[in-house]
Formats: sequence, structure tokens, C-alpha cells
Amino acid sequence: MIKDQVLAILLQTDNCISGEKISAELGVTRAAVNAAVQALRKEGYEISSSTKKGYTLKKSPGNMCPGELIVRLGKERAEKIICFETIDSTNTYLKQLAQEGAEAGTVVIASEQTAGRGRQGRSFESPKGEGLYLSMLFKPQCKLSDAAQFTAWAAVAAMRAVKSAAGIDCGIKWVNDLILDGKKLAGILTELSIEAESGEIQYLVAGIGINVSQKSFKGELSNKAISLSMSTGKKASICDLAAELIKELDKVAEEFPERKAEYREAYRSACVTLNKEVSYEKNGETFYGRALMIDEDFGLTVLRSDFKEEHLFSGEVSIRSAY
Ligand code: BTN
Repeated sequence: MIKDQVLAILLQTDNCISGEKISAELGVTRAAVNAAVQALRKEGYEISSSTKKGYTLKKSPGNMCPGELIVRLGKERAEKIICFETIDSTNTYLKQLAQEGAEAGTVVIASEQTAGRGRQGRSFESPKGEGLYLSMLFKPQCKLSDAAQFTAWAAVAAMRAVKSAAGIDCGIKWVNDLILDGKKLAGILTELSIEAESGEIQYLVAGIGINVSQKSFKGELSNKAISLSMSTGKKASICDLAAELIKELDKVAEEFPERKAEYREAYRSACVTLNKEVSYEKNGETFYGRALMIDEDFGLTVLRSDFKEEHLFSGEVSIRSAY
């Protein structure tokens, strides 16, 4: 869209730029540039204009939009990113696109999700402008058993993105939650499509939700969830976080599954579940034990209270002591 390209130019201009120069650069009319500036102002961008000097971007609202991503990731990468103001679920939408043949690397981001989905049929609260809700499409050439580790790789990518964009070190609770100050900062939902006859992976959608600027959480989440703002007292940029996350997920796309040892080590050293007393449900029974290690395939080895070792590959593990 012209508006996104005009914004990208304004973001990259230190002082001011004439409407004429923008229209020449984009190959569009002056009227189109003017309309784009009006639309950006409506979205909360403060853009001054003078007949002599042209346009100057004074302030960005920091909302997620393609123009902001063009500046951070380049035009070519941004072309595969679709931004929505409101959507039911970025995972659901991207799965539809994947069925219609979307390319690997396609990303869907929304400012708000009305039916954000979490693991095990739970919902994921996705209030407008307060979090990053992002899904990316992968088409890995790997065995189904390798694909089971994908969520753990995505957790390492999300942890690294939080560090680069906000300077914060967070932990990972097995298998896929990012943890900050002992509370949940982010969750990951990975969904796969497999061809029934060949058993081959058709596509994989990794959906990541990060709490960014919520001031508090209500009800059940009130003492379980945290946002970056609640921890630091500062407002982190959702655009910076999205750009860093896309860069990290692009690396995962390139490196999966070959660089397993490196990701496993990063995962292991961030995993807050290790060496903790844990409990988990299996076949309707609750087991207690101590989390011993992250094994070869990112499973969790638990030494149960009956001294049997159990290797968990999925499901939910609760930590019984503080982390
Ligand atoms: C969980 O914590 O159980 C996983 C939460 C995953 C939420 C993200 S937000 C972007 C993507 N779209 C969804 O509907 N869910 C994932």
C-alpha cells in the first residue's frame, strides 16, 4: 500500500522531505502522497507539513503496521507480512492461507485477536494494542518426530527476540511458556498439517503471543501473567519486538533441524523447570517428581517420587516450588 511506503520513507528521513520527492521515489501522484499522509495522521502519526520544506514525521504512535516493518526488515521481507487491526486468530487465518498455497515465511500479525487460541483448547487473551500476536508459516523438510521439537525452537527464538528488543532476559517453562519474574510473559501454539497417505508435513504454523503493555491482568490470570511494561515500568515497542521475532524465526527456518545442539543448549540454560519439584497428569493420575534434564529431543526427564524415570514429550507440567 502507498501509505505503508510513504510511512517507511518518513521514518527513514531525518528532517523533512518534499511531497514531490516522495511521489518521484514511489512513482505515484502528489495527490496519492497527500492522501497517504492524511490517512497516517488519522492513525495517530504526527506529521508536520510546510509548503517550502515538505513533510516531517514528528511522532509515531508505535502501532503495528507494515510501514514500520519495512523500515526494520526491508521491503522484500515486509511483503510477506500481513497486518490486521482485528482478527479472530492469526493462527486460524494463516492456516487458511497455507491451505490456499501461501509461501513459507508468510507472517500474520494482529493488533487484537477476538478468539486468540492457546494450547489444549484454552483461549489466549489478546487485548488491542497491548500485545504482540504473530503467526509464521513454515514448511520444514523433516521427520514428524523432529517437528515435535519445533515449539521449543520457537521458544528460544521468542526469548532471543525479547532480549534484543527490550533488553530483558526471560526464562522458558517447559515446554513453551516464556517466564518473567515467575509469571507467564508469552505462550506459543504450534499447529501442523500432515498428509494422511505419505505422513509428510505439509506445513507448520507457529503462533506466538507476547504480553507487552498490559498494566494488570484480571481474574485467573491476575497472579499468573505479566507484561514487559509491568516488569520494567517502561513501554516496549511492539514493532521492534515483531521485527526481532521475525528475524529470529527466519533463522529457525534456516537452521531447523540441523542446529539442534545449539538450540537445545540455549533452551536448557533458560529452562526454569529444571531441578524443580513438579507435578503432571497422565491417564487421569497425578504424578510428582523432580525435573532432571532436557533430553535429546527437547523432552523432559522427571525422576518420579516412586523413583521411576519418566520422559515427557508433551503436556503440561506444574512447578511446585518457586521459580
Ligand atoms: C498458550 O499459551 O497456550 C499458547 C498461546 C498462543 C497465542 C498465540 S497469539 C498468536 C497466535 N494466534 C492464536 O490464536 N494463538 C497464537
